[in-house]
Amino acid sequence: MFPSDPFQAPLWTVLSSLTHARRILEVGCGHGYTAAVMASAGGPDCRVDTIEGDPDHAELAEQAFKQRGLSKRICVLRGRGLNLLPRLKTRYDVVFLDGDWREYPGYIPHLRRLTRPGSIIVTANLNPLFGGWGGRLPGKPAIESYLTRLLRDPQFRTYVVLGEWHSISVRV
Ligand SMILES: C[S@@+](CC[C@H](N)C(=O)[O-])C[C@H]1O[C@@H](n2cnc3c(N)ncnc32)[C@H](O)[C@@H]1O
Repeated sequence: MFPSDPFQAPLWTVLSSLTHARRILEVGCGHGYTAAVMASAGGPDCRVDTIEGDPDHAELAEQAFKQRGLSKRICVLRGRGLNLLPRLKTRYDVVFLDGDWREYPGYIPHLRRLTRPGSIIVTANLNPLFGGWGGRLPGKPAIESYLTRLLRDPQFRTYVVLGEWHSISVRV
């Protein structure tokens, strides 16, 4: 489990301010680091839903949120993104994808449905497409398909952060 780099923490403050975030969605909670950072960045009226497929990770994250007094504002949804996204109905101001990139193409219809014009989507784990992480990880075609569809989708404007291999998309 690889938490995000702490140097990225101010990104969530910037995005929360830009979108006046009240609802944030994450796929790939891990042990809860980014969800906690995002909830703090959004302030006391901001709620975070975070999806986690590994029950042990979900449990550790929930314990951490409890210890930090964040349980009322962060909801851990247990299961895989592809199974849980279709069940969500709220519109989110910010979405962070930080799980299994092989599922990303299947997320696109839900990203449209679960965002509003002005919402921002940050997608992590694009590294395998660009030769990162040893270049031997599976799933390059899925990342290529996801990015191509996102870049061509008239409902999104997308920028790939070179070197970091995240993308940032704004819903238009
Ligand atoms: C890179 S870690 C997340 C780190 C976390 N976002 C942070 O920065 O603190 C990826 C997590 O996503 C979970 N995961 C991977 N694919 C998933 C999927 N398709 N649905 C839900 N969770 C997934 C893994 O179990 C792991 O805990």
